[in-house]
Amino acid sequence: MCGIVGAVASKDIVGTLVQGLQRLEYRGYDSCGVAVHTGSALQRSRSTQRVAELLAQVQTEALQAHTGIAHTRWATHGAPSTANAHPHFSHGPRATAATAGRIALVHNGIIENHDELRHALAARGYAFVSQTDTEVIAHLVDSLYDGDLLTAVQQASAQLQGAYAIAVVARDEPHRVVGARAGSPLVLGLGKGEDTARYLASDALALAGVTDQIVYLEEGDVADLSLARHQVYDAQGQRVGRAVHTVQISGAAAELGPYRHFMQKEIFEQPRAISDTLEGLESVMPELFDAPAALGKTTATSAWRAFKAIDRVLILGCGTSYLAGCVAKQWIETLAGIPTTVEIASEYRYRDSVPHPSTLVVCISQSGETADTLAALRHAQGLGMAHTLAICNVATSAMVRECALVYLTRAGVEVGVASTKAFTTQLAGLFLLALALAQSRGRLSDADETAHLKALRHLPVALQSVLALEPHLIAWAQQFAGKQHALFLGRGLHYPVACEGALKLKEISYIHAEAYPAGELKHGPLALVTADMPVVAVAPNDALLDKLKSNLQEVRARGGVLYVLADAHTRIEPSEGVHVIRMPEHYGLLSPMLHTLPLQLLAYHTAVALGTDVDKPRNLAKSVTVE
Ligand code: M6R
Repeated sequence: MCGIVGAVASKDIVGTLVQGLQRLEYRGYDSCGVAVHTGSALQRSRSTQRVAELLAQVQTEALQAHTGIAHTRWATHGAPSTANAHPHFSHGPRATAATAGRIALVHNGIIENHDELRHALAARGYAFVSQTDTEVIAHLVDSLYDGDLLTAVQQASAQLQGAYAIAVVARDEPHRVVGARAGSPLVLGLGKGEDTARYLASDALALAGVTDQIVYLEEGDVADLSLARHQVYDAQGQRVGRAVHTVQISGAAAELGPYRHFMQKEIFEQPRAISDTLEGLESVMPELFDAPAALGKTTATSAWRAFKAIDRVLILGCGTSYLAGCVAKQWIETLAGIPTTVEIASEYRYRDSVPHPSTLVVCISQSGETADTLAALRHAQGLGMAHTLAICNVATSAMVRECALVYLTRAGVEVGVASTKAFTTQLAGLFLLALALAQSRGRLSDADETAHLKALRHLPVALQSVLALEPHLIAWAQQFAGKQHALFLGRGLHYPVACEGALKLKEISYIHAEAYPAGELKHGPLALVTADMPVVAVAPNDALLDKLKSNLQEVRARGGVLYVLADAHTRIEPSEGVHVIRMPEHYGLLSPMLHTLPLQLLAYHTAVALGTDVDKPRNLAKSVTVE
């Protein structure tokens, strides 16, 4: 959510800053901007268009500099407008048009005490020209500035409440950038060889092709960057050494290749993502969930011991990750017989729950930086639940650092805001978790283990055959594009899949969509069914098929038009008002993974037909790092 890039170098850095923003644009795209040091003053260029327009703008302005900061914004305080776009300049009590802009600052996150600070600063003569909480920090740093940017940022940080990452430059220090983080990620990049530059970014991805030498800042760190040197200070202001990691940052993740959108690319990458996630899997053991040694975790613990110690599971997540948890609940209860609850992280963190120390707390997150899920994790830990497991796609994320056990999905970078390959790889990891928990309870026979592993290994091929159904989904999408609403139905394991289908459709096509367990239809939602309300049914050949068929009859009897994803041998045939796509053989417990793909394709092609901005849907952002 929002993206930060900063640099100090002996060469022009404007191109590097803007290219970095292009790589981070999927994190937030309400506006963008860059501020640079011209040698004597701070100069900025901002746009409420996309980063491509900002690039054209800085080229027209012939902006060049050796020091600068840049930002792409997802609006929290104040509408997307030029005035609210970052970087923000300080405007002190004695500032004139000529002297304003002693400090320039970019910010990710939310400052909770911004109102209080704003009043205090306004009383001292600071002028506010935006509605952002960010401008408050720029003024605060200015108010504390006495020729040393590092000290001013350290003192300002001590007064800030909330979660943030910032990058700051000062008019009077042309070769310095200072960054700070508390609750939002920030990394340093170190130029290699001849390159003496120092970089800042909210994600190492921004520095792909620039440097692979990365320092991950820790909570409360303040970093002081100048040419050929950097120094990190911890929250107590002590100098600290933070390890330099050589990171393979693939710029290719940000390339579209033959695809029209990242979402389409990522849907089609799922067979590969699943096989990468399962690579090297020989047997199902709790050790799969031990934190990999390469993460160098000091809190590492043994999954065997943890799995033996627990007698219930609590799953936390948001959005699509929450829905993966809803599938996992059923797998864990079926296979391992362990009572499992799933909670939306933003609700769990604030409600009075009954803590139980023998709980395995499973946090599911693609990014590992979702503010609500992180807060829910910390809340659970605060309640005395120490057995924690992250199912996550980002090895360097806060969630991975803060959980004792880790399972890393290998989806690769997911750029489309709508989660696709992250979801199916989470499901793969969660299925293994259910098996490993069963193993730890002596509930997994050798024969069952072999059968499950065989089915898992066959998944990439099965997923490929589902992707081949794309032309049928394109045809369905043409019909959906003319609708205002849609219903999605599923039962059992496939109810969360139906929810995921509805979430995808509304997220990128803006068509209102709801999902129901099909048995609930007659308890209310059936009143909505008309010929104008397409009803998508996920109909695998499982124990609930006959019940589902009765529910579908109820829809047809009211004139509802059905779009059914039916496995082979379900005896659901196309007829008037009943469209059927035939899925591959029934995949048993793994069936949710297969049935998810057509729903992703349906949402994608409906959005394409409607001409929405598929990868950057309105009002949303990837990685929701604010509450
Ligand atoms: O990074 P996370 O998995 O924690 O993100 C959670 C949700 O914000 C995310 O899944 C969101 O619902 C997706 N945009 C849905 O496609």
